[in-house]
Amino acid sequence: MKIIVTGGAGFIGSNLVDELIFAGHSVVVVDHYERSKTRFENPKAKIYKIKFADIEMASVFEKEKPDAICHLAAQISVTESVKNPQKDAQNNIVDSIAMLEMAKKAGIKKIIFSSSGGGIYGDHPEIPTGIDLNANPLSPYGIGKQSFEYYLAGSGIPYVALRLANVYGPRQMSEGEAGVISIFIEKILKSEPAKIFGDGLATRDYVSVGDVCKAFVRALTTDYTGILNIGTGVETSVKELWQMVTDISGQETSVIYEAGRDGEVQRSVIDATLAKEILNWQPEVELTTGLKLTYDWFKKLNRGV
Ligand SMILES: NC(=O)c1ccc[n+]([C@@H]2O[C@H](COP(=O)([O-])OP(=O)(O)OC[C@H]3O[C@@H](n4cnc5c(N)ncnc54)[C@H](O)[C@@H]3O)[C@@H](O)[C@H]2O)c1
Repeated sequence: MKIIVTGGAGFIGSNLVDELIFAGHSVVVVDHYERSKTRFENPKAKIYKIKFADIEMASVFEKEKPDAICHLAAQISVTESVKNPQKDAQNNIVDSIAMLEMAKKAGIKKIIFSSSGGGIYGDHPEIPTGIDLNANPLSPYGIGKQSFEYYLAGSGIPYVALRLANVYGPRQMSEGEAGVISIFIEKILKSEPAKIFGDGLATRDYVSVGDVCKAFVRALTTDYTGILNIGTGVETSVKELWQMVTDISGQETSVIYEAGRDGEVQRSVIDATLAKEILNWQPEVELTTGLKLTYDWFKKLNRGV
């Protein structure tokens, strides 16, 4: 299959590009590279350094004649979406619709969309949270992700929207709320104190990027159209996570507790039972194993290896 990966220079996207190429697919990356470094470019991928809704995108479709799109490029910060909802909606809804229209004209056969479990479900009464089609996202980021799912459903193009839990692993930038694991690791490697906001009891569902990429690859060949949750169903508090990373590092560490941030979700963990049924997907990487792998990757990077 020939697949366009928007956001293919980013954390999940660049890992996905490698996984798709490994699986024998032909890959075209579309990324504006404003957030990303070029060091994760796979030499076998064709790269277009453009915005996915740019006018040139139509000629990318025409020239490359892709079968499918994995749409990962997005404004990814919940905090940023609260500060600037218009910018979030422009990228994550309006520009994404523009690309969807181009994809329709180009006869794209399948779209896999990186949606967000945490963003859409917020503090949900059902824990772990199953697929809820009537969720009430609290942030513009979550609203944007859910809105684009509706546009996908209305497009007539077969699609799978993967509502991802908190993804972690090598290549994640240590900034923003999505990257708590990389932030903790970098702080430890620099021997600086880390910060925990609130009492440290807030929980998240941490799923490894390798497992997430496998879900994307399988979603490309399923006949199912609709939404799937992708997570581990395991709840880990920030405090527990900090202890796990500290133990892996084997170093003396320190942490500062600061006031909780507005709108912070207390519990977030999702139920991926349907993904097991439909994609035969389930997480394979245990958190301690994935954390060790991520820690070792950052350690090498810091040494310039
Ligand atoms: N990381 C997580 O925990 C997580 C959880 C749920 C959902 N997601 C979703 O997964 C996707 C990938 O997230 P990530 O963590 O890899 O983020 P990332 O910032 O590392 O990657 C996003 C990439 O998209 C590119 N991009 C953004 N807007 C663009 C535009 N208009 N045109 C072209 N390129 C553009 C950026 O340059 C970047 O390389 C996003 O859609 C995000 O919302 C991530």
